[in-house]
Amino acid sequence: MAAQIAAHGLIKADDFELVSQPMPVPVEAQLLIRSVYLSLDPAMRGWLIDRPSYVPPVQIGEIMRGLAIGIVEKSNHPKFAAGDRVQGMFGWQEYLLSNGEAVTKLPESGLPFSAYLGLFGLAGLTAYGGLLEVGQPKGGETLLISGAAGSVGSLVGQIGKIKGLRVVGIAGTDEKCNWLREELAFDAAVNYKDDNYKKQLKAACANGVDIYFENVGGEILESALYLMNTFGRVVLCGLISQYNATAPVPGPSNFALVISKRLKIQGFLATDYSSKVKEMVSNFAQWHSSGQLKYRVDIVRGLESAPAAINKLFDGSNNGKLMVQLSDPPAAP
Ligand SMILES: NC(=O)c1ccc[n+]([C@@H]2O[C@H](COP(=O)([O-])OP(=O)(O)OC[C@H]3O[C@@H](n4cnc5c(N)ncnc54)[C@H](OP(=O)(O)O)[C@@H]3O)[C@@H](O)[C@H]2O)c1
Repeated sequence: MAAQIAAHGLIKADDFELVSQPMPVPVEAQLLIRSVYLSLDPAMRGWLIDRPSYVPPVQIGEIMRGLAIGIVEKSNHPKFAAGDRVQGMFGWQEYLLSNGEAVTKLPESGLPFSAYLGLFGLAGLTAYGGLLEVGQPKGGETLLISGAAGSVGSLVGQIGKIKGLRVVGIAGTDEKCNWLREELAFDAAVNYKDDNYKKQLKAACANGVDIYFENVGGEILESALYLMNTFGRVVLCGLISQYNATAPVPGPSNFALVISKRLKIQGFLATDYSSKVKEMVSNFAQWHSSGQLKYRVDIVRGLESAPAAINKLFDGSNNGKLMVQLSDPPAAP
């Protein structure tokens, strides 16, 4: 699927063009990959804006960039065989040819194939690297998370519990808050759409906040800064509330608190912690099998659904890691 315009505001279906082409045939040293699940991520919105960033913007007419997992259908490449399970930036397309560069083979985990985007994928590494490496948590501290019921936020909170933190989540529906408290054992969860959410948040963080894991920005960031303890850390993961902004977004009005409270604010990219993937997969597999780490996936079907489905991330209607199923997953082991 090719990008057509670099729009502001929410993505619209006609920002993309669905293009059909004959099935590609691999030549010497190439492989043919069938994509199974395509990850939909908030960052994709930024990739469609024509500005300098950590990756170049997707150009008009180019295939939309996207992380996906799939199966090798045919291989003329010495390192891959038909049937291999693979991951890479395969883009918004059902089949692709590759020379094997930046294609990672996936091991067998015993979990459904979608777990490689839902638990062991980008969201997992973001949560793992962001909390443990950037946040540097110490047992007994209070961790506050915005976007807490999302794919990154829900993993951050559960890792926090495993590491002995007091965990408070902020999410946009009562159902999500109940899930955080009842299923994921968060100590408290506050619905930011409630009129008195700031009061509820203050009560939930009675001893202040030592680590704030930020996924949202805007008014929620401002509320969190008031609650930070001296020498607290702000892990700046994402600012989803402003990804569709059509005008410049003002910073928090209470930013001076960063000085008086001696806060440390650090942004990061999940890929900064690529060297931790093996450790993360091993820990996550163990924590998942012991019931300490749960995840949910939200799967929509068909490539043509992708442009509308990505907006679920921005209206909060996704429940878990959002992905598009493009073809049948391999049979469960
Ligand atoms: N730094 C990195 O390397 C990295 C990597 C991956 C993701 N991220 C960031 O992590 C964050 C979460 O990503 P994800 O993939 O896990 O998505 P997600 O949390 O599964 O889904 C996005 C959620 O954000 C919330 N949201 C959307 N607009 C909002 C608004 N205006 N105000 C408050 N909440 C809003 C919605 O939940 P509610 O129902 O609670 O509103 C929505 O379900 C994003 O900011 C993303 O950019 C960063």
